[in-house]
Amino acid sequence: METTNGSLNRKLRMALVGGGQGSFIGRVHATAAVLDNRAALVAGALSSNPERAKASAPAYDIAESRAYTSYQEMIDKEKSLPVDQRIDFVSVATPNHTHFEIAKAAADAGFNVICDKPMTFDFAQAEELVKSVEKSGVVFAVSHNYTGNPLVRQAREMIQGGELGEIQAIRANYIQGWLRTAIEAEDQKQAAWRTDPSKSGAAGAFGDIGTHAYNLGRYITGLIPEEISCNLKTFVEGRKLDDYGHAVIRYSNGALGTVTASQISHGRENDAFIEVDGTEGSLQWRQEEPNVMIVRKNGSPHQMYTRDPNAPFMNEMGAAACRLPAGHPEGFFEAFANVYRFAYDAMVARAAGESFETKDTIYPNVYDGAEGMYFIQQCVASSADNGAWLPMKYENARS
Ligand SMILES: NC(=O)c1ccc[n+]([C@@H]2O[C@H](COP(=O)([O-])OP(=O)(O)OC[C@H]3O[C@@H](n4cnc5c(N)ncnc54)[C@H](O)[C@@H]3O)[C@@H](O)[C@H]2O)c1
Repeated sequence: METTNGSLNRKLRMALVGGGQGSFIGRVHATAAVLDNRAALVAGALSSNPERAKASAPAYDIAESRAYTSYQEMIDKEKSLPVDQRIDFVSVATPNHTHFEIAKAAADAGFNVICDKPMTFDFAQAEELVKSVEKSGVVFAVSHNYTGNPLVRQAREMIQGGELGEIQAIRANYIQGWLRTAIEAEDQKQAAWRTDPSKSGAAGAFGDIGTHAYNLGRYITGLIPEEISCNLKTFVEGRKLDDYGHAVIRYSNGALGTVTASQISHGRENDAFIEVDGTEGSLQWRQEEPNVMIVRKNGSPHQMYTRDPNAPFMNEMGAAACRLPAGHPEGFFEAFANVYRFAYDAMVARAAGESFETKDTIYPNVYDGAEGMYFIQQCVASSADNGAWLPMKYENARS
């Protein structure tokens, strides 16, 4: 008989940092984490405001005794609990400038981590975090959740298996319109910290959503970048960080890639969109219609792949990421849950004292997170130098 989490035979115990009243992504983490009945949310430090941290706990069914007023208190107290009660992992869903201290404290204490993107405030912090994770041996995933879509994984296996031939071009976009006006000045919370360089980091749109687009291209194709040239722009008057930009990437195999990120395009919602051109075919996928992928070959009718776990055209990675039969739409939550699901396999292996993959993982990991921070650093530096070509090969990158 199959048991929950195999040899572990119990649910993993989760702690959430962030996700307090009025926030966005913490609730998504909490929902995605339990979708497969493999984890339970038992503890949290839910807000930067201690009263709100406590007040937010009942809505997550977190017991009063484990609703902490800070992440430091949470890690100290959880560490001292008996092994059969203490948390297994910490999910970090706070603004960017706090990720490093929280994720590092959790990893140093031996807790596994699921951290939101961009992984840290800057690349130097990311390199330090990589060292902490290597030293402690914890499982570390970064919620580049678009990689969890079944058809993204299908595309990855098709492309890396050579079905599109040699890959020559990648166009990855993430287009939004919600920051078309300076809503940060009206005290819109999510806009306020995202446009504040002391909280968001060196980039605005490029850090917030450009990193998702870049990661998607890397994840799907596996191509190794060599150099990058970038132009960032702030179109909304008074804003301190970019709200629009383009980057061009030269890959080591001779391919060219572009990343475009916008937060100022009227009417655009969350249009993460990727196209890949190979010598034998091209492919496109769009997160606003995640259950469809188009593959094209000159001279043949366009092929529309739907997400169908039982269809013979689905490959192993694509099918393994599905939960529902074809035609019942899967979306944001399910893709997010796939980052968790495959990280759970590693957490279970770690708990059993078994070895597990850390670099070429199915889920985005600490090395991918660090590469994202390198991407931000090089884009900002290139843009400041009139689009100069700068190195983009991260030494610890997945292959
Ligand atoms: N993967 C995705 O698709 C996705 C989507 C949205 C946001 N994000 C990322 O998630 C993070 C949070 O974004 P958001 O939009 O949910 O922000 P938000 O402003 O809506 O929520 C942030 C929450 O963190 C809390 N917080 C801040 N500092 C804290 C601390 N030191 N300890 C405990 N709690 C603290 C705040 O009180 C709030 O509850 C950001 O890094 C963002 O880039 C990722």
